[in-house]
Amino acid sequence: MVNFDYCTPTRLVFGKGVIEKLPSIMQPLGKKILLVYGGGSIKKTGLYDKVLELLTDFEIYELSGVEPNPKYESVVAGAKICRENGVEAVLAVGGGSVLDCSKSIAAGAKYDGDPWDLITYKVPTTSALPIVDIMTLSATGSEYDANSVISRMDMNIKTCLKSDHIFPTCSILDPTYTFTVSKRQTAAGAADAISHVFEKYFTAPTSDLADGMCEAVIKSIMKNVKIALEDPCDYDARAELMVDCALACNNIIALGNGASGWVAHAIEHALSAYYDITHGEGLAIITPHWMRKILSEKTVDRFVKYGVNVLGIEPALDKFDIANKAIDQTYEFFKSLGIPMTLGEVGINDEKIGEMANDIAGDDKLKKCYVPLSTEDVAEILRASL
Ligand code: NZQ
Ligand code: ZN
Repeated sequence: MVNFDYCTPTRLVFGKGVIEKLPSIMQPLGKKILLVYGGGSIKKTGLYDKVLELLTDFEIYELSGVEPNPKYESVVAGAKICRENGVEAVLAVGGGSVLDCSKSIAAGAKYDGDPWDLITYKVPTTSALPIVDIMTLSATGSEYDANSVISRMDMNIKTCLKSDHIFPTCSILDPTYTFTVSKRQTAAGAADAISHVFEKYFTAPTSDLADGMCEAVIKSIMKNVKIALEDPCDYDARAELMVDCALACNNIIALGNGASGWVAHAIEHALSAYYDITHGEGLAIITPHWMRKILSEKTVDRFVKYGVNVLGIEPALDKFDIANKAIDQTYEFFKSLGIPMTLGEVGINDEKIGEMANDIAGDDKLKKCYVPLSTEDVAEILRASL
């Protein structure tokens, strides 16, 4: 194991009906609240009305219309509302995009300049407004991490602000709010969370404990996403997915593991930065090709462990046969969820592969990964994914 210094200061409040605690959660944080939400799903489900009903004693400001792959412009708009009105806390109601946007808003509200300075680390984030979220989609794990992924389409940049100041103070996780998530977003969310675990699992060193936790999370997602796709209102399946996704992006399941470089995510973020695709779909498309690229004598034992422990492949087979079967089955699993499995199906051709590969791996950016990749390696992964 490598050394670690771990703290997640986020309170998780989980279960059906826990939203009733919202007033008592918000009360110590302040009276003036910025309510942030997306394109309208929370209005359709009635959650918006419920939140306002519970917060009648608070002064509510609103930022609506936060986009999937949240944009820098929304961050600027939200931070402005906070600064102009003396907002004391941010309440995100929605999926990972709404929460990520809220996190950068919370940091931007405490900074006089352009929030992009913080998002790109030109200026360190030294404080943020407190953030509370009510999650309506199981996917990113933003509810239990300190990341805020923001896109700037004019620059083809999708980047991640990481700061301990943007951990949510409290995340409200009621699985019933995810019953209305479409099949497409349910599948993409599961692929995203599985990828979060892969990014921790395919590395060195690892431990028996971390491997066991990672494998348990992947197995739970693989089982329960199928149930949720069959029956979107299956409470137990939605509940497992909700907790799986919260844990999948948190280091608690991989304490002491070495850094991997998060290569599949680096590649997907470039795809989204150029083509604004759904994050989980991009990951599902890329992942099997990235796996095939990094399979070698050095990595094969990781694939064997995954193949045997998670996918139930016969352990007596040759180790490279197990590894290749594991990669094939990973592809088939994502496909079985209805995810489009080629870049072509999500509107991406070979035109910008060189540019994207250079953004991802140029200047030796992926030199310190578990398996270092060159610009040409990344271009090959992208071409194989077409
Ligand atoms: O905008 P609304 O109307 O709310 O609709 C959303 C959106 O269209 C809809 N939705 C959400 N909850 C719903 C619902 N529809 C019906 N019923 C509900 N209960 O789903 C659509 C997608 O929402 P979005 O928030 O974009 O999805 P997700 O949670 O997958 O978030 C994706 C974003 O998070 C980033 C991704 O890159 C992407 O920008 N990530 C954030 C991470 C983090 N903070 O740690 C890590 C991830 O690796 C990832 O990069
Ligand atoms: Zn992700």
